[in-house]
Amino acid sequence: MNDILPGEVETWQFMEETARRVFKAYGFAEIRVPVVEKTELFKRSIGETTDIVEKEMYTFNDRSDNSLTLRPEGTAPVMRAYCEHKLYALDAVSKLYYLGPMFRYERPQKGRYRQFHQIGAEAIGVADPKIDAQILAMLTHFFAEAEIPDISLQINSLGCPACRPAYREQLIAALESQLEHLCADCQRRFRTNPLRVIDCKVPGCQSATQNAPAIIEHLCPECDDHFATVNRLLKEMEIPFTVNPRMVRGLDYYTRTTFEMVTNSLGAQNAVAAGGRYDGLIREIGGPDQPGIGFAMGLERLVLLKGQSSVAPQRPELFVAALGAEAGDWGFLLAAKLQRLGISVELDYAGKSLKSQMRRADKLQARHVLIVGEDEIRSGTAQLKNMDAGTQSPIALDRIETTLPKILSGEFTP
Ligand code: HAM
Repeated sequence: MNDILPGEVETWQFMEETARRVFKAYGFAEIRVPVVEKTELFKRSIGETTDIVEKEMYTFNDRSDNSLTLRPEGTAPVMRAYCEHKLYALDAVSKLYYLGPMFRYERPQKGRYRQFHQIGAEAIGVADPKIDAQILAMLTHFFAEAEIPDISLQINSLGCPACRPAYREQLIAALESQLEHLCADCQRRFRTNPLRVIDCKVPGCQSATQNAPAIIEHLCPECDDHFATVNRLLKEMEIPFTVNPRMVRGLDYYTRTTFEMVTNSLGAQNAVAAGGRYDGLIREIGGPDQPGIGFAMGLERLVLLKGQSSVAPQRPELFVAALGAEAGDWGFLLAAKLQRLGISVELDYAGKSLKSQMRRADKLQARHVLIVGEDEIRSGTAQLKNMDAGTQSPIALDRIETTLPKILSGEFTP
């Protein structure tokens, strides 16, 4: 679990602001849900045999002996809220986004943490493949706006309860013949969660499952049509993508379209964003039979790809370097007035020497420094230094509250 310090946080804020701006264009509104839910919600939605539920949840009993879990993801809590507040009664389509911390007890490494942050979006109520294409357009749009290099979109279809069971049986049979070549994890789960085996990153499992049947070749006609339309719409929108028939997601609620935004720059953690359709999930957790589709992006991974401190920290517009008690008070009150106007002003609090104040102004990368001492107060004129241009000019103190904001905003040069 990490602290996010000033200097890094600007890149986080940039991602959050970019997401808010882009998502708004597609009609998504923010929803905020608690970080804890009843454990049962995650078991039912994510699936009992998934890695998340089997070994990664932070689960505890509260004082009333309810089993609670720190949310490992955002989809299930958002669906719980959708049902609880009957959002389906307000509009046939609910488009919601969220951002915040998620918790998984995973082995930490680059790009993988125990508390991490997601920006996610969910569109509920639409079965038509247009929404799949729109979600993917929004995701691609976000990555373009955030200027994240070297990523690509991969899509797949996981079928539906009509076609997946038959495929699953075929897959189990194929895996059984390769059992001795599979890793211990896959030998254990090949019956309970055979789809995960073809997605396993262990090289032995990858080669052993090379010729295993691919689900997109075993889709029912409805799923096949759905997937074909998503493919066609993406092409018509000129969104680059590849079909990856081996992509299986680590959560059980997916049906039909699934996708990942992948990169080669984060080692084993190659998915920066991931999601898919979950048509049976809302009914499964006791809500109405509404289809849904969504994704979540890992904020840590976005920031790693963008570069930790690629977004410049805020620079103060003005540093007031005051010398002596009287000028110190005068400078403090001037700063207060300018700050109330929304101008960022820094000042010295400790009665330091001019040299030391100038050093701090430099360190903070203040754009201007106002130098004022007892003499300047008496004469009514101080010096204003433009730190970028390296120029210095006199400024009259009697009208400074009106002239200074104009100078700082570049409206006129002294
Ligand atoms: P997920 O694939 O488990 O999907 O997570 C989505 C993204 O969260 C990943 O692609 C990754 O960027 C980030 N992530 C996951 N685990 C970690 C970790 N331990 N450390 C850092 N980043 C991590 C979901 O969570 C689904 N709820 C997505 C979704 C929304 N599907 C439909 N709607």
